[in-house]
Amino acid sequence: MELRVNNKVLDAGDVDPQTPLLWVLRDHLGLSGVKFGCGAGQCGACTVHLDGQAVRSCVLPVEYVGDQEITTIEGLASSRDESAPHPLQAAWVEHDVPQCGYCQAGMIMAAAALLAEVDAPTDDDIDNYVTNLCRCGTYNRIRAAIHTAAG
Ligand code: FES
Repeated sequence: MELRVNNKVLDAGDVDPQTPLLWVLRDHLGLSGVKFGCGAGQCGACTVHLDGQAVRSCVLPVEYVGDQEITTIEGLASSRDESAPHPLQAAWVEHDVPQCGYCQAGMIMAAAALLAEVDAPTDDDIDNYVTNLCRCGTYNRIRAAIHTAAG
């Protein structure tokens, strides 16, 4: 199975079409930035983009991806055709957002999809759009970093 991932066409090999995209990315393509949390579409640790939209890859059978462009945290910066970190990644560092870090790639991907739609999101916009869960409770720093990245 071929997939468009991070501006490349990658061969995922022989994959059961019902396999969640999460496991194809992690186990077949070695993209381990995307994380398994709940496996039920609830926590957002597995968030990636499909054609720029945030999706929870643990509940998306890979057969539904088709030729849509998948972007993972590994490809977020290069999706802008720049070698510099994505503004969200820079803001995450500036605000020292992560605690344990496990959920943060999914958080950044959700935030990136938000910023693609809303230039200057309010706290309410962030809370309504980035519904990912962080067990360390880094939500205040996440909001601050998103405001910084939004400029
Ligand atoms: Fe996909 Fe929790 S692992 S939403």
